[in-house]
Amino acid sequence: MSASEPLLLGIETSCDETGVGIVRGQTLLADTTASSVGEHVRYGGVVPEIASRAHVEALTPTVARALKDAGVRVGDLDGIAVTGGPGLAGCLVVGVAGAKAMALSLGLPLYAVNHLAAHIAVDTLEHGPLPSDCLALLVSGGHTSLLRVGDLAAGDYQTLGSTLDDAAGEAFDKVARLLQLGFPGGPVIDACARTGDPAAIRFPRALRGSEYGYDMSFSGLKTAVARWVELAQAAPGSVLPVADIAASFQAAVVDVLVERTLRASREFGITDVILGGGVAANSRLRAVLTEQAARRGVRVRVPRPALCTDNGAMVAALGSHLMSRGIAPTPLTCGVEPTMDLSAAGEGGQAAPHRWHSV
Ligand code: KG4
Ligand code: ZN
Repeated sequence: MSASEPLLLGIETSCDETGVGIVRGQTLLADTTASSVGEHVRYGGVVPEIASRAHVEALTPTVARALKDAGVRVGDLDGIAVTGGPGLAGCLVVGVAGAKAMALSLGLPLYAVNHLAAHIAVDTLEHGPLPSDCLALLVSGGHTSLLRVGDLAAGDYQTLGSTLDDAAGEAFDKVARLLQLGFPGGPVIDACARTGDPAAIRFPRALRGSEYGYDMSFSGLKTAVARWVELAQAAPGSVLPVADIAASFQAAVVDVLVERTLRASREFGITDVILGGGVAANSRLRAVLTEQAARRGVRVRVPRPALCTDNGAMVAALGSHLMSRGIAPTPLTCGVEPTMDLSAAGEGGQAAPHRWHSV
């Protein structure tokens, strides 16, 4: 780490985590998170208005804690990065307004970045610069896509395939609700599946086969689990084999994700894969993808679980990368872009300025 590298503070408020990260260059100095997840449990999903209000309360103390953890003062910062989209509009507005206030008052450049690009960039904090041509499997509560990434800072991404309906994380959340395991569903299904048999129930793997390209679908899988549970519960005296259901469902999701990724790797001759997003914290996905890829000479890079779920460090990492590459900052007149996708993003994963609305 060199003191001449930029010191960036990144703010993430696209969903229910208020994340503030601080990096110098690509060295992580602080990653502080406040979560409103507990306030959403009784609703079985994130309630946008509750999440937005929680961000308002948490943002300033989380920034203060991150600065303290990193041992730096606000005056030491060289730039501010923030998630500009995609995400929940009211939640994004809190982070973007806070980031603008910091940038304006401190006279610093602002980088409003794409959340999905940040999920990829965070890996550089652990494993160094990205290979120049790699695949990125992005699996979160709101998105599931397989991308070919050329140059992250130049906004050079190509979406090879995406889910046509539910995101992988959304399927975990919905199945967990069905099994009354709580929210968010991913971690509880992951834990519950450890004692179950992944081959106990053969749930469907939709759109399998090269004729479907790299697109995915998880809503039929969720319905298949619901139907299976309904039938099982109709039997007199039945006890639901929850661990087997969780393990079998998880195996179906993982199979689909691994098949798409390794097929793309083979067809495009790309031997580096970055796994990112909240579902990348899944123990089976990490293990199966890494193991099957290794057998084919493909390297898989996965950040540690805490950096896979939403956090401020990933936003700071991308901001720092853009700044180091001399990418122009985002104008302070920018707004939020709740449906921003990667292919619509301009240079550096920032939204094209003309598409911004003022906050
Ligand atoms: O990236 P993220 O923190 O937020 C979004 O951008 O959506 O991802 C959250 C999603 C949730 O659906 C959650 O259930 C899922 O990631 N998740 C997991 C695991 N940990 C979090 N899914 C499967 N296994 C896990 N261990
Ligand atoms: Zn995310």
